[in-house]
Amino acid sequence: MSKSPSELSVLFFGDCVGKMGRLALAKGLPLLKDRYQADFTIVNCENATHGRGCSHEHYEELLKAGADCLTSGNHFYDSRDVFRPEYDFSKLVRPLNMGPKAPLSGSRVFNVNGYTLRITNLIGRVEVPGAQSNPFTDMDQLLATSSEDFHIVDFHAEATGEKRCLAEYLDGRISLFVGTHTHVQTNDAKILDRGTCFITDLGMCGADDSCLGMGKDNAIAKVAFGLPLPFQPLETGMARLDGIHAVLGLDHKGALIEPISFKVNIA
Ligand SMILES: [Fe+2]
Ligand SMILES: [Fe+2]
Repeated sequence: MSKSPSELSVLFFGDCVGKMGRLALAKGLPLLKDRYQADFTIVNCENATHGRGCSHEHYEELLKAGADCLTSGNHFYDSRDVFRPEYDFSKLVRPLNMGPKAPLSGSRVFNVNGYTLRITNLIGRVEVPGAQSNPFTDMDQLLATSSEDFHIVDFHAEATGEKRCLAEYLDGRISLFVGTHTHVQTNDAKILDRGTCFITDLGMCGADDSCLGMGKDNAIAKVAFGLPLPFQPLETGMARLDGIHAVLGLDHKGALIEPISFKVNIA
């Protein structure tokens, strides 16, 4: 669709899992950015390094692939690189409500086409570790002192109900609300009553023939029998890039949100 000069075309992809996710983004993002004429592209990177966090090397790899900003989640601390001040992580946003001692920032502002775009990451409180405070009231506090043209929130959470409640709580106050963490894309992308674009979960970027991006044998042994086996790296085969394309308008009035599930063959 054509868009007005005051609208932003945005791509947001779900949790990047391991090498397959990184390779698929490197191969697929240039094509998708061109197809959707994207002004800004975001990727959740919490599983980019062998499923556990995002090293500084892989942070740079994902930016080189075409991401303009990376968000995170409960695996944020798994790469110790985030504690090393010599590394530039200025385009990574970790969950805002991980407490005052967490390194890096939970909300950052970018300039896009002459407009200000705020990206905020939050983590849920139902069956996911890491939250140190209430994401609802933390957003109230943030919104009381911020006035950017566009605002995108990645709510990294397990429970669909918690995600929908926060999205409705923020409807009309932010431009786009996406959920991450489950690695399974939901079939409910829509524009909420007051204009906020919404999806419960983006899905993942990683191996298609897998258990949520992980090698099947070790994942089954872990879930079925409690065996503490490591994540099996997957490096070839079909990968999927799950996410959304959204066209965001001023005053948090969304024009479009549509799911993307794009297959990439990694030879
Ligand atoms: Fe994840
Ligand atoms: Fe997660």
